[in-house]
Formats: sequence, structure tokens, C-alpha cells
Amino acid sequence: MQNTTKAQAHPNIALVKYWGKQDKQGNLPATPNLSITLSNLTTTTEVQNKQNGTADEFHLNGEQVEDDKLHGWLQTLRKHFDVPAVVIKSANNFPTSAGLASSASGFAALITAINTHCDLGLNEEMRSNWARQGSASAARSIHGGFVALVPPQWEAMRLAPSAHWPLEVVVAVTSRAAKSVNSTQGMQRSKRTSPFYNAWLRGAADDYSAASEAISTRNFTQLAEVAELSCLKMHSLMLTSIPTLSYWTPASVACMDCIRTLRDQGHQVFFTVDAGPQIKAVCTAESRSAVSAALAQVPGVLEIIDCGLGEGARIIDQ
Ligand code: PMV
Repeated sequence: MQNTTKAQAHPNIALVKYWGKQDKQGNLPATPNLSITLSNLTTTTEVQNKQNGTADEFHLNGEQVEDDKLHGWLQTLRKHFDVPAVVIKSANNFPTSAGLASSASGFAALITAINTHCDLGLNEEMRSNWARQGSASAARSIHGGFVALVPPQWEAMRLAPSAHWPLEVVVAVTSRAAKSVNSTQGMQRSKRTSPFYNAWLRGAADDYSAASEAISTRNFTQLAEVAELSCLKMHSLMLTSIPTLSYWTPASVACMDCIRTLRDQGHQVFFTVDAGPQIKAVCTAESRSAVSAALAQVPGVLEIIDCGLGEGARIIDQ
């Protein structure tokens, strides 16, 4: 066992979303979903053995915090593996818990670091499985490029590497506040109360097939259509939940309008939005600078982050 093991992972954004889980054990999404892994936004996680005491210690962005989800996840891991008490230090170079998928990169980096630190012997599929149990979307951040999370295994698989279609993503940050209702609670609420939940389940397989075909043939128009529809269907579920789940700011809506205008002007760009107010504009390299410049002008946009497609979770230092 090493003294300290460090891993890095990137968030991913779903182009075909999941929103709602199965009733079974294992934190399984109710529907097939598909994502791209981002570069530039990075979680770095360091694992060390705890020198004194038996309680794990968790530091997030330089501050010691208590995290029940993480404690529960470590307890489950210890039912299967010999993992000593650890000190975990995790830091994000982007806003945390604000709709930029920090839990996805967080659990992907963590299982990758613990796997090496404690010699667990997990391959990519197994790491994806463990990451998923922390946060379902984290399963996808184990891989780079275009990634699918589908039945029956629910271990993410790479559909295509980044080089297959080097799309770019412009992130428009419209608020840095942490979200008030987390994804798991939000999904439970939508499943329980939204009148559209069953229609959402019925449409997911077709959305997944259309998006994976668009990726394999690099058909931007087809991908744009299905990805925006999947995003807006998910936000319709959120909005029709009781009480409503409204993650957008006025600037989020203005960014979506701006992206539609850019598309009308001939740019290859579409938007997607997760459980938060940030807008991710997916575009081709030719349109990237026009998209960044236009979104930067939208009132209420605080910051623009340009990303490419990134790598999967990996060890960077031992
Ligand atoms: O699995 P979680 O808790 O990270 O939830 C992810 C939810 C969305 O980002 C909104 C959708 C998705 O498929 O990533």
C-alpha cells in the first residue's frame, strides 16, 4: 500500500439524461443514458491511511466536512474489501454541487484512488459499478469520450473515444450557489408526483438509440435534436413535480434563447442543462469561439468555461 495515492477525474454531461431510479438495490437508473466526459473541469482526490483513530476523514476543497453519503458508500465498500480508515482530500477546480456534476467526477476519482491505494484489483467495469453506487452518473466518468450507461450490467461502457468526434463544450455559469434539492431527492419527488414520469420512461430507449446512432455517424443535427429534447423532457418532469423543482435562473433561459439564435445563424450548437442553472453549449470546433463570445454577453452569465472532451478517471501520482 502506498502512503498517498492521487487520482483525477472529470465531470460528464448527459446528452440522454436519466432522472429517476429503479426500486432495486445498487443505485440503478430507471432508463438508459449517455454522456460526454469533459476536459478542463477536474476533481483531484488524494487518499492516505489515517494515522490516528479509526474514523475516516473527508476534506472537500480544503475544508473538513461530514458527508453521510460518502460514509455509507465506504461502509458498503468495506463489506467487500479490506479498506483501512482513510483521510480523503478532494478538490474541484469548478463550483461544487451546482449542476456541474461534481459528484460524478468525485466518486469516479475516489474509487480510482482507493482501488490503487488498497490494491483492490478492480478493472474499469468494476470501478464503474462502485462509482455508480455513490452517484449513478459517476459510473460514466470512469471513461473518457462518449459513454453509455445501459442495462443489463449498468456498468458504463465507452461508445467512442474523444478523437472519434472532437466536440467542444462551452459552459455558461449563471450561479455559483449549491443547489437546494439534490438529484436523488429531486428524482424521488418527480417519480412520486410528476404526471409525466411514465411517458418519460417510455421515451428513453428511443432517445438513447437516436443519440447513439447520431454519435456513431457524427450527425450533429440529429444529436442536437435528441439531446435538447431529452434535456427539456427532464426539466418538464422537474417543473411538474410537487413541489416544483425549478433549477433555472433567468440567465439560464436567456442562454438557451441565445443558443437557438446562434443555430438559426448557421452555427452547430445545442444546449443541455442538468439539475442546476448552468448551461452547457455543445458545439463543433468551428463554432466554439462564436458560442463563447455570444454566451459571455448574456446578462447574468458569471463565467464562461471552454472544455473539450476529456479522459476517463486515472491515477496521476502515487
Ligand atoms: O446520479 P446523479 O445523482 O449524479 O444524478 C444525475 C442527474 C443528471 O445529471 C441531471 C442527469 C444525468 O444523467 O447525469
